[in-house]
Amino acid sequence: MTDTLTLTRPDDWHLHLRDGDALRAVLPDTARQFARAIIMPNLRPPVTTTDLAAAYRQRILDARPPGSGFEPLMTLYLTDNTAADEIRRAQDSGFVHAVKLYPAGATTNSDAGVTDLARCHGALEAMQDVGMPLCVHGEETDPSIDVFDREKAFIDRVMIPLRRDFPALRVIFEHITTRDAAHYVRDAEGDVGATITAHHLLYNRNALFTGGIRPHWYCLPVLKREIHREALIAAATSGNPRYFLGTDSAPHARHTKEADCGCAGCYTALHAMELYATAFERADALDKLEGFASFFGADFYRLPRNTGTLTLRRETHAIPGSLPYAEGQQLVPLAAGESLAWRQVADTTSS
Ligand code: DOR
Ligand code: ZN
Repeated sequence: MTDTLTLTRPDDWHLHLRDGDALRAVLPDTARQFARAIIMPNLRPPVTTTDLAAAYRQRILDARPPGSGFEPLMTLYLTDNTAADEIRRAQDSGFVHAVKLYPAGATTNSDAGVTDLARCHGALEAMQDVGMPLCVHGEETDPSIDVFDREKAFIDRVMIPLRRDFPALRVIFEHITTRDAAHYVRDAEGDVGATITAHHLLYNRNALFTGGIRPHWYCLPVLKREIHREALIAAATSGNPRYFLGTDSAPHARHTKEADCGCAGCYTALHAMELYATAFERADALDKLEGFASFFGADFYRLPRNTGTLTLRRETHAIPGSLPYAEGQQLVPLAAGESLAWRQVADTTSS
């Protein structure tokens, strides 16, 4: 049995850092493990322009712990009005690495998202031209569709037509949760990838209802049936470079999750690599973790692979019940109070 696991320093290809005090509270957790992360733009107001992304990037750099070389990779929030020129500005900036499609109303802070992709053809064409990737929140928002079927409906109604209209557009199907999405990404032609979260690898939808309703397991897209979790495990551990790590760590203060209408999002930045190692070990595939966590995302985004390392040691320890968050609030990490079999031990370089 392996007791120490040293990997090339990983990156997180899907992360919510928020802003202000919240940003300062959560960033050290990510910076401890990951060299870089793709930063989601769903702030209020959303990060819709290169200028807003530049300012947000600076706030993230300023919030880094002393000595940290963590590099935020910025994204723009696609709207019905995103101009082709804005895409070219983003590409020329060198610090915007993707544009994010939130179907309007699909999730947290998505009200300014896209109501109809037909309105975005100018921007999408420019993205295809300059090679700017599109990150996709892949859920159909039609309220008549069962919440557990929204990802599959999105593939049929949006993803397939989108990729037919823009065959050279580089697309990342974010936080896939179903066998349908895993197989779509495996079989699709062209430049398509997918991120997979640790929580969708570790849990099925029963986790939402174990002994009562469990708001800290509620995220979007919501956890699915066991057959889907198994398909995600098969995908993540397959060695297929189309699948790579994206935590979708999404902090919300405790009282906003434990509420009448609780927010969607699991906080996993604290223990992300320990959670992924647990999932890969259960699948007897620890040897596949490095490609998934440290190589394939960088290759997809056409960025250099990192040179530093991250080491995990087998050491049982408890996940804290809560963490300090913005303005005296609390943040509950996923699986708070439960125990983890792996612990990060060595920080070498962060690049
Ligand atoms: O669970 C989620 N939380 N899913 C998302 O798509 C957004 C995220 C957030 O920003 O809280
Ligand atoms: Zn997200």
